[in-house]
Amino acid sequence: MIFGRSPRAHRLEVTLTDDVLVVHGGTPLQGQIRVRGAKNLISKAMVAALLGESPSRLFDVPRIRDVEVVRGLLELHGVKVSDGQDDGELVMDPTNVESASTDQINVHAGSSRIPILFCGPLLHRLGHAFIPDLGGCHIGPRPIDFHIQALREFGAVVDKQPEGMHLSAPNGLHGAKLELPYPSVGATEQVLLTAVRAEGVTELRNAAIEPEIIDLICVLQKMGAIITVHTDRVIEIQGVPRLHGYQHKPIPDRIEAASWAAAALATKGEIEVLGARQADMMTFLNVFRSIGGEFQITDDRVARPGVTGAEGGIKFWHPGHELQAVALETDVHPGFMTDWQQPLVVALTQARGLSIMHETVYEQRLGYTDALNQMGATIQVYRDCLGGTPCRFGRRNFKHSAVIAGPSKLHAADLVIPDLRAGFAHLIAALAAEGTSRVYGVDLINRGYEDFENKLAALGAHVERQN
Ligand code: EPU
Repeated sequence: MIFGRSPRAHRLEVTLTDDVLVVHGGTPLQGQIRVRGAKNLISKAMVAALLGESPSRLFDVPRIRDVEVVRGLLELHGVKVSDGQDDGELVMDPTNVESASTDQINVHAGSSRIPILFCGPLLHRLGHAFIPDLGGCHIGPRPIDFHIQALREFGAVVDKQPEGMHLSAPNGLHGAKLELPYPSVGATEQVLLTAVRAEGVTELRNAAIEPEIIDLICVLQKMGAIITVHTDRVIEIQGVPRLHGYQHKPIPDRIEAASWAAAALATKGEIEVLGARQADMMTFLNVFRSIGGEFQITDDRVARPGVTGAEGGIKFWHPGHELQAVALETDVHPGFMTDWQQPLVVALTQARGLSIMHETVYEQRLGYTDALNQMGATIQVYRDCLGGTPCRFGRRNFKHSAVIAGPSKLHAADLVIPDLRAGFAHLIAALAAEGTSRVYGVDLINRGYEDFENKLAALGAHVERQN
């Protein structure tokens, strides 16, 4: 039996025969892997390159599908993108930005949520923009009303059509006083990428302040922008008439790092995540420790040129005794990230007692727990706000709180990957379970986890592609 989305429908969607991973579970994952630049910064920094009048260089760029989508869109608009000398170095030359046809742009429809961030940069460079239908994970309705409202306040004219969104700025873009109804990551980035070259000052209240956003602000500052992050989620941007290219080494991917940490815990293993950084993961590390997981920060090794293995990170391991239940809620930074939730829930199925996970960022991000239950977990989802403060979903009929009763013995199953993070969680469950599972739709994981099959092999996992 196959759990998750209908496998038949899924196979039709992906029309790939080699999209199935056979996982022989029950082996602790052990070894070292490395994370590169954060997916949720890299793609935005690539869009920022459009704003400059000279080439930009981005280092440590992972080979993931979101990068390919943004690269394709940049190239369509005349940006010359090439690989630099270093492994993972990307050079983007926006000297000759040009318009692209809606048909060309629509090739990327449904492939990612990043295209919405092209609005401001394209309006500045070309005076108009066309944005295709967005994609991204199906984890709730994911509206873009905050983005559109902000763009209109800057002076953009937004025309939504069935084929996508046309924007123009007949009177240019001007600084604005804005307040987000919720500290949305994407809407904050939209404001930053638009305000940096808008005429005058922009004040954004209730902004998101995730580390990836602060890193994007660093990128923009390198380009010549003037941005001040005040207390209480207020960001002030003084528009400048022109920006130049940047060179940037991005923050490491703290979502991927936490996913591997959860995999170490769920499979009773030990994984050193090279490149992971303590400062970005403090909230996760506190939770990991509360459950009983052990970790050691290994970034104090002295990196010496030519000496492999000198780079540190964070080593995560299972303590060898029973894990403890915890009550948690996801939140905006500095809270527990919504993207850390799914892999960690798999580990929580192995903790003694009742754990609570209250998801407060997305209203429909617990659907993946059905498949875990079919594998032997005991997880109940509720409409109420459990275990913490009431959130904006509480009275709106969404099953957004989960109670996980453990420990449960997980057994193998055939699974269909529903979205990126839940997909990785399914993979961890299959690796932790006794027996052989088939995981359908694994190519979706390439959207955000670079080279994950080789990393699994390096950690001693018994996985193979189904022929
Ligand atoms: N929201 C609105 N209206 C808007 C924008 C957002 O109501 O116009 C709501 C959303 O529906 C959601 C909440 O605000 O309930 C937060 O959404 P946000 O805008 O912060 O999310 P995002 O920018 O679309 C990014 C990451 C997500 C990550 C969230 C939260 C990227 C490409 N995506 O999404 O990452 O979960 O921030 O941190 O940066 C992932 O990597 O798998 C992923 C989904």
